[in-house]
This record gives sequence, structure tokens and C-alpha cells, in this order.
Amino acid sequence: MIAADNTYTNGVALPPGDSPELILVPATPAEKIEALKLNSIAWKGRLDTETYIARENHLHSQQLVKDDLTSWILVDRSEPEGERTILSSCETYKKKAWLAHNGRVEDVSTHGIGSVYCRPQFRGKGYAKRMMEELSKKVDTWNMESESRKKALFSILYSDIGKNFYAQFGWKPFLSSHFALPPVAEEHNVSNGVEATMPQVKTLTAEDVRTRVCNKQILAKERESLRLASMKTPTPKIAIAPDYNHLRWHWAREEFFVKSLFPGREAPTAKGAGDDAAGVHCAWNRNFGSVPEENTLYILRWVYEEPTSPEETKQTIQAMAAILRRAQREAHEWDMSTVEFWNPTPLLQQAVAMVDPNVELVHRQKDSIASLRWNGAESGFGETVEWCLNEKYAWC
Ligand SMILES: CC(C)(COP(=O)(O)OP(=O)(O)OC[C@H]1O[C@@H](n2cnc3c(N)ncnc32)[C@H](O)[C@@H]1OP(=O)(O)O)[C@@H](O)C(=O)NCCC(=O)NCCS
Repeated sequence: MIAADNTYTNGVALPPGDSPELILVPATPAEKIEALKLNSIAWKGRLDTETYIARENHLHSQQLVKDDLTSWILVDRSEPEGERTILSSCETYKKKAWLAHNGRVEDVSTHGIGSVYCRPQFRGKGYAKRMMEELSKKVDTWNMESESRKKALFSILYSDIGKNFYAQFGWKPFLSSHFALPPVAEEHNVSNGVEATMPQVKTLTAEDVRTRVCNKQILAKERESLRLASMKTPTPKIAIAPDYNHLRWHWAREEFFVKSLFPGREAPTAKGAGDDAAGVHCAWNRNFGSVPEENTLYILRWVYEEPTSPEETKQTIQAMAAILRRAQREAHEWDMSTVEFWNPTPLLQQAVAMVDPNVELVHRQKDSIASLRWNGAESGFGETVEWCLNEKYAWC
């Protein structure tokens, strides 16, 4: 039931956030829809509530999450199911991940947490805090019966409310930096003439991305890089498996937006760009914000061969620069305000300097703070962990 003020629908006063009567439970299908209705105020953006709920249901049916999504609600245990008031809510998604340690890579499962919400009338009463406290006790063993490790070594979330709130429950902030490049019109003439040095790049379809960004060999190579890195330092390394399903989830989101916001416009087929000769490729998606100024073309994932000579290094950076320019043009075509990509490697930083020397690396303080809760110490993996491949593809 939707309560409008500080009481339940039957007029009884709301409980305090630390009441022993509060429990965190999976929502029923009807409660899941109700939770979406409530949080639509925060996240529907330019969609109406009904379309927003349809979008969320569409995303929930994607391969990446369809069997592994739980919608959680904080409720008072004394209220009967079907009539209980949602005090706070969130979602968790089980994800495949890699753990590299001492020269070995293990397939593990983790949970991503998203859509943490409390309706405006109930805020400041400690409900979101209580929910996170309850979740921190439950999430690691949730839905892990079929796994070799019955308790996840870690879970992740992306905070939009800074670095402190989630840290108090163990989700600590990790590197959260990005570059934001402006869109570029097709006819734009670059004053520093750098485009003359850029190779031609290929625009990638979804199928091209599948074969060039996340085919089996590329994933095997990434795993091998993690394994080699884990032999150099004792700190364990984790990565969310950068599989094709992640990209498909992001594309389902953009395609739903395009269908809803621009009826009649073809769904975008350009899903990335690459230079086969240099072995550099990326996948992207378009994100439509509440206002056009928030529209962002996100580069979800970069893959490239580590160069082994100065000549190869130059070729790699030039290819990255050309791909960035291609992304800027795509952003222009789709009325995106920026091209953004997360936690760039030193080579990508050099490519950005080539494309636009005025653009500086941003260290986010509030939005999309990559946060991770590590339990590895109790399994003998030590107190700290390194988050590798910390790019936008893993966002949830
Ligand atoms: C964030 C949110 C879930 C907090 O819910 P809540 O029930 O009011 O939170 P609680 O009462 O349990 O906790 C309040 C604490 O959270 C902090 N907090 C709440 N909103 C915050 C924000 N926007 N930025 C930073 N901290 C915030 C408060 O400072 C307070 O801290 P204190 O106890 O140290 O004073 C709620 O404001 C909300 O739904 N916001 C809109 C959606 C959203 O941004 N969700 C988070 C996505 S990552």
C-alpha cells in the first residue's frame, strides 16, 4: 500500500529505523511494481511512469540479470504480505566475476546492488541505513547455494550520493575517474591538424563488437593478464567478467529509450569503433538523461593489445585517438553532450591529450562512485583487493 505521510495506511505511526520489527525481504511481484512506482520519481527521467516501469521490466528480462535479480524491500514484519508499507527498497543482481590470486584465476559470483531508494516522505528516519545494514548481512550468501563458494568474496555498487554513506556498511569507494570529451560535428576542422595522423577506423555493429571486444579469445587474454598480474603482487585482483551480456544489457537500455523518446527513429546500429590493424576496439552506448544536457555517450569497454615497441605504442595511441574522434562524431549525431569513459589507462590518457589537450581527468566525488565490499580477509585473501577492468560496462 502506498502511504502518503508519516503513518501506515491504517494510521499507525511509522516505526524508527532501528526497530527490531523491521526486516529486509524479497518483494512479491506486486510489491516490485510498487517499488518501481515509488522510485520512478528519482529515475524515470524523460519517461512517464508507465513507460519507466516497462523499461525496468524489459531490462529485468535481459540475459544478464533475468534469472539472478532480486527486488528487496524493508518492511515491518507485523504487516501482512500484500498490505505492507515499503519503507525502503533496492535491487541486487548476481554477476559472474574473476578472482586472481597467486597466479590462479577463479570464476566466482558476486552481487551488484542498485536502485537504493526511500520515498521523500520517509527520508531521514534511518530506513535506507537499516536496509543497507540488513543487506550487508544477507547479500553474500544470497542465491549462492549452487556455487562452489557459498559466500561471495565481495559485492559492488555505484553510489550517486558520494563516498561516505555506503562506506559505513563496508562498500568502500574505489577509483572513480573519467574523461568527458565534447561532441564533434562531421565537418569540424581540427585546428591542431591532428586528424591527419589518425588512421581510418571501422564503425562496429553489435556483432562486430561481439567478435572484437568480447569473444572467447579476448576474454581468455584478459584472464591471463589478470593471472600474470597476480603473480607480481600479493593483493588479490577481481574483475566483473566483461562478457557480451553486459553490453547487451546497456544496449537494451539505449534501444528502449530511442523507441520511447524518438518514435520512428531507427535504433542505433553503431555500437562501437575499432582499428583492426592496430588491435584497438571499444564498445559504447547512448544514455539519455532527464534533460538533453545529461545525454552521454559512454564508452563501456576498451580492448587493445599491449604494445611491445615504441612503434606499436604510437600506432596504438593513434588508433585510440581516431576511435575517440569517431565516438565524438557519434555523440554529435545523437545529440549527446559528452563522450565519457572511466578510469583510463596511461595509453588512453595520451590518446585524449592528442585529441583534445584541454580535457582533464575528472575524479568524481558524488556520482557513480565505484564501491566494493570485500570479505576476502576471512577466507585468507588479506584485507585489500584491487578492482581491475573498472569500466562502465559493469555499472548496474
Ligand atoms: C539516499 C536515500 C536512499 C537515503 O534514504 P534515507 O532513508 O533518507 O536515509 P537514512 O535516513 O537511512 O540515512 C540518512 C543518512 O544518509 C545520508 N544521505 C541521505 N541522502 C544523501 C545524499 N543525497 N547524499 C549524501 N548523503 C545522503 C544523510 O546525510 C544521512 O546521514 P547521517 O545519518 O550521517 O546524517 C534517499 O534519500 C533516496 O532515495 N534518494 C533518492 C535516490 C537516490 O539517490 N538513491 C541512492 C542511489 S546510489
